Amino acid sequence: MSLLDDPELLRRIDRGGMGRVLERWPEALLDALRIGGRLDVSQQKKDVKAVVWVGIGGSAIGGDLVKGWASDRSPLPIEVCRDYHLPHYAGRRTLTVGVSYSGETPETLNAFKEALGRGGPVIGVSSGGALEKLCAQKRALHAKVPGGLAPRGALPYLMVVPLLALAKLGLVGGVEEEILDAHETLKELRERLRPTVPTPQNEAKRLALGVAGTLPLIYGFREFTPVAYRIKTQINENSKTLSKAEALPELGHNEVEGWVGVPKDLASRLSVIFLRTPTEPQEIGVRIAAVKEIVSKRTKRVFEIRASGRTKLAQILSAIFVGDYLSYYLALLNRVDPTTLTNIPKVKRKVSQRR
Ligand code: F6R
Repeated sequence: MSLLDDPELLRRIDRGGMGRVLERWPEALLDALRIGGRLDVSQQKKDVKAVVWVGIGGSAIGGDLVKGWASDRSPLPIEVCRDYHLPHYAGRRTLTVGVSYSGETPETLNAFKEALGRGGPVIGVSSGGALEKLCAQKRALHAKVPGGLAPRGALPYLMVVPLLALAKLGLVGGVEEEILDAHETLKELRERLRPTVPTPQNEAKRLALGVAGTLPLIYGFREFTPVAYRIKTQINENSKTLSKAEALPELGHNEVEGWVGVPKDLASRLSVIFLRTPTEPQEIGVRIAAVKEIVSKRTKRVFEIRASGRTKLAQILSAIFVGDYLSYYLALLNRVDPTTLTNIPKVKRKVSQRR
C-alpha cells in the first residue's frame, strides 16, 4: 500500500486541514459567484482604460489567471502589480483591484493607497484587515471573502470575486457560464483526486510519487503559463520544495539549451511536468513534443497534467486543481503539514521589525 493511501497518516500530517479546503473548492466557486454577484459597481463606472490587479503571492495569482483567461476577450490591458508601487501610467482611468487575503500585506496596502491618491476607481478584496478598514474610511468598494483559510487555499474566492467585478463593469463576458462549468468540472475531478481514491487510480498521488525527491520544472504555455507558476508556488508553499515554472514557446529558445550541459546526477533529480489541454493549438503541441523528446533523454521523470472541462476557465482551474492536490500529496510524502509556513512568516516578521 502506498503511504498516501493510509488515512491515519494523512490525518496526522495534514494538521491544518488543507485536504478539507481542497475538497470544498467546487462549492467555494459557487460561494464566490454569489459574493461577486452582490457587488454594487455603479460608482466605479468610469471610462476605464486599464486594469491593475495589486497583490502578492496567493492574492496575486488570480490576477495572472484572469489576465491569461481574458487575453482573447478583454478590450483592456490587465496588469498584475506585485510590488509597493503602481506603474507610472496608472491614473484616473485605471481601475485598481487590490487583493490581499489577510488585508495586511504592506506591498498591497501601499500600492492601493497610491491608487486612492491617483483618483481612479478602486475595488478592495480581503477577508478583513487594514484593507477593509481603509476602504471603509475612503468609502471605496470592498468585497469581503470568508476568513480562516490560507490565502493560497482561498484562490476560488480571490480569483472569482474580482473577476465578477470586471464582468459587472462590462470588461469581460461569459464569466458566469464558465464558473458554473468550472464548478461541474472540479466536482467530477474531486471524485478522482480526493485522498480516499487509491494511488493507482489517483492522478495527483501518482504525480506526487513521480516528482518526490526532485526539483519539479513545470512547463506551461499561454493561459497555462500562470497555471504552471501557481503549481510551482504550491509546491513551494505546501510541499516545502523548490520548483521552477517556465513557458513555451519561450523555453524552446533558451531553457531547452540548458539541458545539454546538465550534469547527470542533477538531471536525475529533476522532473518535468508539461501542461496540456484538449484545445491546445497545433503550433504549441509540436513544440511540446520536441522539448519532451529532449528532456526525456536526460530524466525519466517526465509527466503531463491534462486540463479538462468544456470552457477555458474550467480548463485553467482543472489543471490547477490537479496541481494543488499534487502539492498536497507531495507535502504528505515529505511529512510536512501543507498549511504551516516557516520562512514566509519569518520574512514578514523581519520586514515589519524594520519599518
Ligand atoms: C499564503 C500565501 C502567501 C500570501 C502572501 C500575501 O498562503 O499564499 O503567498 O498570499 O504572503 O498575503 P495576503 O494574501 O494575505 O495579502
